[in-house]
Amino acid sequence: MRLKIERIGRVVRVRLHRPEVLNALDAALMTELVDALAPLDTDPDVGCIVVTGSERAFAAGADIKEMSGKSAADMIAEDYFAGWEAFAALRTPKIAAVSGYALGGGCELAMMCDMIIAADTATFGQPEITLGVIPGIGGTQRLTRLVGKAKAMDLILTGRLIDAEEAERIGLVSRVVPADRLAAEAHAAAEQIAGYGKLAAMAARDCVDRALETGLADGIRYERRAFHALFATEDQKEGMRAFREKRQAVFTGK
Ligand code: HXC
Repeated sequence: MRLKIERIGRVVRVRLHRPEVLNALDAALMTELVDALAPLDTDPDVGCIVVTGSERAFAAGADIKEMSGKSAADMIAEDYFAGWEAFAALRTPKIAAVSGYALGGGCELAMMCDMIIAADTATFGQPEITLGVIPGIGGTQRLTRLVGKAKAMDLILTGRLIDAEEAERIGLVSRVVPADRLAAEAHAAAEQIAGYGKLAAMAARDCVDRALETGLADGIRYERRAFHALFATEDQKEGMRAFREKRQAVFTGK
């Protein structure tokens, strides 16, 4: 089994498990990941997904051995990596819990998540330049939007690796925690998110993502439409009623 999936209450925890290659991501593993998560994405009882790897590696990149023999024609015909966007397109909030290496496609997979929580031992980088290529799974685009041109150029052109502290400082990572607390902290954040109404959480992440794609006026209009639409949900009624009644809201995802 190259994926270990556990469901704890409303949180789904997915562990990448190809220890012999530091969780290198080949096409089959990404297909498995997307196929496993697609039905959970639409399950109202799944409120948050945590993607993690091992202590040594979240993922050391796309599988270089799988890629190395391919021709440009193969790459184009297969539209290699296209399937990975299906992971980014999942609407349930996703947290990457990163320990060890998150390099190349591993860093790109983490950036497809809504938050990255990193162990203080984590290492990030886009070292594709050392292989004669460039990031191919959104790295030049997502990293630049997340950390700005200066840092993205530095990482992508030099291929240098950065530690968790620098990753947090430049805005790649949401939180850095002691390595032995990573699983617990990521789970606690996931439980907190999963405890809210799923429709609101999905709308929130969608609107934040939209900010990376659009101008301010369009983004604000998009946000307002999403905000208005949430008033059609029972969760909005329940959330505001609970506030007025000074009690904890019980959200149902409706
Ligand atoms: C395939 C990989 C791999 C990868 C590691 N392995 N990374 N196999 N694809 N991305 C394999 C190694 O070949 C080795 O297996 C085993 O995992 C352990 O790795 P070692 O190198 O022996 O470990 P270590 O010395 O600790 O070094 C760790 C490392 C190094 C610094 C992470 O493995 C490394 O540099 N890996 C490649 C990182 C990288 O360039 N990633 C970007 C890939 S390109 P064997 O059987 O050989 O001993 C990408 C996007 C491409 O992600 C998009 C554009 C086309």
